[in-house]
Amino acid sequence: MQNFSFYAPTRIHFGQGQVAQLAAEIPAASRVLLVYGGGSIKQNGAYQQVMAALSQHAVLEFAGIEANPEYETLMLAVAEAKAAKVDWILAVGGGSVIDGAKFIAAAALLDEEIDPWLIVGNRTPIKRALPIAVVLTLPATGAESNFASVISRRATQDKMSFKNALVFPRCAVLDPALTLSLPARQISNGVVDAFIHTTEQYLTFPAEARLQDRLAEGILSTLIELGPITLANPDDIDARANYMWCANQALFGLVGVGQPQDWVSHAIGHELTTLYDMDHAQTLAVVLPSLLRYCFDDKLLKLAQYGRRVWGLAGSDSEVAHAAIDATVDFFERMGLPTHLAAYGLNADEVALAVGDLLPKHKAFPLGERGKLTLADCMAIVRMAG
Ligand code: NZQ
Ligand code: ZN
Repeated sequence: MQNFSFYAPTRIHFGQGQVAQLAAEIPAASRVLLVYGGGSIKQNGAYQQVMAALSQHAVLEFAGIEANPEYETLMLAVAEAKAAKVDWILAVGGGSVIDGAKFIAAAALLDEEIDPWLIVGNRTPIKRALPIAVVLTLPATGAESNFASVISRRATQDKMSFKNALVFPRCAVLDPALTLSLPARQISNGVVDAFIHTTEQYLTFPAEARLQDRLAEGILSTLIELGPITLANPDDIDARANYMWCANQALFGLVGVGQPQDWVSHAIGHELTTLYDMDHAQTLAVVLPSLLRYCFDDKLLKLAQYGRRVWGLAGSDSEVAHAAIDATVDFFERMGLPTHLAAYGLNADEVALAVGDLLPKHKAFPLGERGKLTLADCMAIVRMAG
């Protein structure tokens, strides 16, 4: 096992009715900027519960943070936060709203002479950030209790992340009842995103990280069991609760500590979202199977372990590894996510060229757990995803 340091300061309040905890989490004298997206929080009751919990607080609102949160929109929120001198940010929504809140929290306290866009990509140090509270409505990203944020800037074709311990949310409310309003498309996205966060930290090479492996296998098995149930029975609150906790744990940090990690599916996937406006999880469901086939020999031992422990397969390492990839593809398709670019009307050769133009702007090569994937390899992976 590799050396590691682990830090996870977010207090998680899990379960129905837990939004009420915000009243005690956010000091009563605070001025709170409530940020949200396109308005789903008003249909599923989250907004009403938040306002009831914060009836003694001064609450300002910023609505309209879009999926794949846009820098220009977030800068309007930063201006509002500064003008109103708010001292807490409360994000109510999915990964996009939470990531947006992390950016707002850091940008609001950035020195005036520094360009806030430099926060993205960790190109300037963050010395301070406003405290963040979260009410999660879409289990997928783990953003509610991690220190990462992914921001898009459409004008310059950028989608990049930043990571900083100062933007760990102070607290996160995970109430599965608030997810009952999710459309099927977002449940499919959420289950598959959580699944692939786990494989990015697990399908690499053996590193004697036995507990981490079994955590990963537990998350993957539970998602395989519950994903289809969650889609088929939208009112099953127990399935929803377990899916919510899996998605949180997939990118909480514990699966990846002491392990080699991959993240190439995410690197290519972010470019596909920028280029073709595909949902984040749609991009991953297309790229991961192709990546696993392209890197088959390098990932063989872990693929075989995955096939035996998660899918219950038998045979030689190679047979089990191939069958495990096929089972993964079948799972994504059953979850309603296509695994080929053609399903989105895209030509793989053209997509490979476009990704080849954009990816070097955002990533330093080589990539992958062995640090050996070149740009040409990444383009080949895209071509194989046709
Ligand atoms: O805008 P609203 O009205 O909130 O509607 C949203 C949005 O249209 C809707 N939604 C959310 N909760 C709902 C709901 N609709 C009905 N009922 C509910 N309870 O769902 C749509 C998608 O929301 P979004 O927040 O974009 O989805 P997700 O949580 O999948 O987040 C995706 C973003 O997170 C980034 C992605 O790149 C993408 O930008 N990621 C962030 C990560 C992190 N911070 O660690 C890691 C991930 O790998 C990922 O890259
Ligand atoms: Zn993801």
